[in-house]
Amino acid sequence: MAATKRIGVLIMFFALAYYVDAISRTKPVASPDIYKGRNVAKDKIAPGEKIVNVLSFGAKPDGKFDCTQAFMDAWRATCKSNVQARLLIPQGRFVVSTMFFAGPCLTPGPITIQVVGTVVATTDISEYVNGEWLMFEDLDGVKLIGGGTFDGMGKESWATTENCEADQTDTCVRNPSSIYFHKVRNGIIQNIKSVNPKGFHFFVTNCANIRLRLLKLTAPATSPNTDGIHISNSIDVKLSKNTIETGDDCVSMIQGVNNITINKLKCGPGHGISIGSLGKYADEQEVKDIRVKNCTMVGTTNGLRIKTWPDKYPGSASAITFSDIVMENVKNPIIIDQEYDCEPANCQKKPSLVKIKDVVFSNIRGTTISPIAVDLRCSKQFPCQDVKLKNINLNLGPKPSGSRCTNIKPVYGGVQRPAACL
Ligand SMILES: *[C@@H]1O[C@H](CO)[C@@H](O)[C@H](O)[C@H]1NC(C)=O
Ligand SMILES: *[C@@H]1O[C@H](CO)[C@@H](O)[C@H](O)[C@H]1NC(C)=O
Repeated sequence: MAATKRIGVLIMFFALAYYVDAISRTKPVASPDIYKGRNVAKDKIAPGEKIVNVLSFGAKPDGKFDCTQAFMDAWRATCKSNVQARLLIPQGRFVVSTMFFAGPCLTPGPITIQVVGTVVATTDISEYVNGEWLMFEDLDGVKLIGGGTFDGMGKESWATTENCEADQTDTCVRNPSSIYFHKVRNGIIQNIKSVNPKGFHFFVTNCANIRLRLLKLTAPATSPNTDGIHISNSIDVKLSKNTIETGDDCVSMIQGVNNITINKLKCGPGHGISIGSLGKYADEQEVKDIRVKNCTMVGTTNGLRIKTWPDKYPGSASAITFSDIVMENVKNPIIIDQEYDCEPANCQKKPSLVKIKDVVFSNIRGTTISPIAVDLRCSKQFPCQDVKLKNINLNLGPKPSGSRCTNIKPVYGGVQRPAACL
């Protein structure tokens, strides 16, 4: 399909999607969990549920035919159904360009998108005028399940990527995320694979009550900005039993994330679990109530990281717990870095204005490859408050590793390897 024609189709769909600026700061509102007490692992076709197969709308599973229009038509038939409905993507390879799965939908219950086969992204980056690949927006109740795969075909686009992570000015243009959830509440993404996204595997923003479970995300260790799950401005998000091997953070959480649980994540290669960078923009919402437990990090550059920018904006991160984490050959297993992208321990910039408070690292064990396994560098203007380290056992081969503390007085308990800061 010629690019001009495709853009025509997109604009047509725009009107239906009433697109909202991706960096909108409206805070999602908590509401009762509609899946509470239900077995979310089980997929049952409801009595009378309508099955909308993309093949019936002209999609071809040959890995060549452009199925974008077929997917859009099939989505509309699913979303506008006033009986329960599911969109089915069967076996095969379906090439799809950027598109919206926009709501609100008319189905009485959560809509199901069952992906059995592989959805393959187109490679011409100029088509991605809306910034992301598959955009789920304005939905209340959606399940993305089925064991299938999203292949972002990222390889070509990585060659022309800047490093957005350390971009001081935020002029860096991110590559499209594979799956973008925006203004979604009551969402489940479960038993789905993502390979080689152009940008993030999953991007969750302005969302409430989202579960991400049993996901397998893969990209080369060298692929740029391929965060596994990137979350901003969202509340009540639960990640469990995910396996992430990628080129950037396995999970990154920035401003406005509240009440997030990460359980049984296996991460590596990658840059670990990251809160931040924070304090990059004016008026950032606070980050609070984050629980990370029973995770394993293998060969990652960082393990558990909180990072904030010096010489920029205020912000806050509090009530954060990391517990029962195993590290294997991790470079910076425990790191608070309030001198992000500045020379460690000799940063000449104005101190960070982000307040870090009430952080617990407990039962963190395994091996590191760094002489500073516990690196806590806080802001001179706002020293870190109430940071506890309990039962830390990190070894650098046969030798002990070290700790560094600036503008922080950690509270220690139990075993401390490396030794506590004096
Ligand atoms: C946090 O989120 C969970 C769902 O992930 C929810 O059950 C719980 O009520 C939330 N807690 C608060 C304090 O909002
Ligand atoms: C979580 O980790 C703790 C400590 O390593 C362990 O005792 C516990 O069995 C783990 N829980 C699960 C559910 O794996």
